[in-house]
Amino acid sequence: MRLSKLTATIFATVALGTTAGSAIASEGPELKHVEFSFEGPFGTYDKAAAQRGFQVYQESCSNCHSMKLVAIRSLGEPGGPFYDEEHPNANDNPVIKAIAAMFTVTDGPDSEGDMFERPAKPFDHFPSPFPNEQAARASNGGALPPDFSVLVSAREHGPQYIYSILTSYEDEAPDGVELRDGMNYNPAFKGGQIGMPPPLFEDLVEYSDGTKASVEQMAHDVVTFMAWASDPKMEERKRMGWMVMIYLFIFALLMYGSYKAVWRDVEH
Ligand code: HEC
Repeated sequence: MRLSKLTATIFATVALGTTAGSAIASEGPELKHVEFSFEGPFGTYDKAAAQRGFQVYQESCSNCHSMKLVAIRSLGEPGGPFYDEEHPNANDNPVIKAIAAMFTVTDGPDSEGDMFERPAKPFDHFPSPFPNEQAARASNGGALPPDFSVLVSAREHGPQYIYSILTSYEDEAPDGVELRDGMNYNPAFKGGQIGMPPPLFEDLVEYSDGTKASVEQMAHDVVTFMAWASDPKMEERKRMGWMVMIYLFIFALLMYGSYKAVWRDVEH
């Protein structure tokens, strides 16, 4: 009797918790429902999309958003968008070397005590567009472009949230909405106003694989890239999870078989 009371209490608590959770989720602006290849227990990153997304990051977002925690080399590590089985060591991957060479980083101090600039190497992290937060705000009308390293994981429904922000700009705010100075109307952002000007427009980039660069396509691609950056070990973790499940299943079968064998001749 006591046990069933306890069970009922647990169920009630869990049920309450779930409803409370969904109430919070539905409080924010409505998000677009887009599906991504990396969602679900079997999901993996669409490598072509992540490569295109890197191009979008590179040509647009990186002018304002940093990605400080991500090493250039990780693009070519297993699970990364530019991983190449012929060059499993990312430092020897010619694509990674070429990408690193596109960036300049500040290094030092040298023997004279001065800082100096040099071309980036695969082991460097992505350089930031601004030297510090104050400089970033000063260039963006007081708003701070957040670092991208873990943004997808840090926001609730991260992929849908970022996709929605990128694709929901409207030229004019509806009647009754007073836009503050330097703000843009975007119903997907909390409060409906965002300090970021629309970063994507049709054909902003030219994809080398011939994909048409619509705003929705670029948003989808850059979100795939950012999701990878936020969780580069996801594929490995899912694979490991499945192996453990299969192992446990086989183990359970064996245990059942031996249980049957041991008790075979015992009379009930
Ligand atoms: C011209 C500079 C600039 C560019 C280019 C830019 N952003 Fe932003 N972004 C900002 C600023 C500034 C904010 C902060 C806005 C605010 O707080 O009102 C921001 C905010 C965001 C947010 C909301 C983050 C949050 O805190 O929830 C997302 C998502 C975002 N940017 C994604 C992107 C993506 C993806 C790109 C490239 C396609 C990009 N941005 C390009 C300046 C920029």
